[in-house]
Amino acid sequence: MTRRGLVTAGIMAILVGGAAAGIWANLHHEEVQARQALQVEAGQQLFQSLCETCHGPAGDGSGGAPDLTNGEVVSKYPTTQALAHFIQTRMPASDPHSLTARQAQDLALWIDSLSSRPNQNVAKLKLLP
Ligand code: HEC
Repeated sequence: MTRRGLVTAGIMAILVGGAAAGIWANLHHEEVQARQALQVEAGQQLFQSLCETCHGPAGDGSGGAPDLTNGEVVSKYPTTQALAHFIQTRMPASDPHSLTARQAQDLALWIDSLSSRPNQNVAKLKLLP
């Protein structure tokens, strides 16, 4: 191969590699979004059965425990994982430590989705199996 041919081949390899990485990143992003949508749904169901009595339907605070929709609670936690950690260790207030890490994460994602100011770090969340 001529020197020019080598340079061209090198450039082509970089272009193709870059495109493949871009496609992979997009697919990965979509997969993460799809997974999170399922977790939000699971979180909603858990919330209805375990949390609504105190936090009110849709977490609006009408049950006496804090309103989870106005952004105040979510903004206290730097990450969704930190919120999940609080939930796992402290909630439900009547039975703390009763949730699995995955359930707490589902609930944190649901609360993020309820919040008028969702956590900005949600995309960095390490999803649990
Ligand atoms: C028995 C009543 C009760 C139940 C059930 C309950 N909570 Fe709470 N929750 C509270 C009370 C009271 C507070 C405020 C005091 C505190 O933060 O410990 C609170 C606070 C919170 C907060 C705010 C924390 C903060 O830093 O301001 C979150 C988030 C939360 N609960 C999530 C949940 C989730 C998720 C569930 C269901 C798994 C749940 N709670 C079930 C009573 C309850």
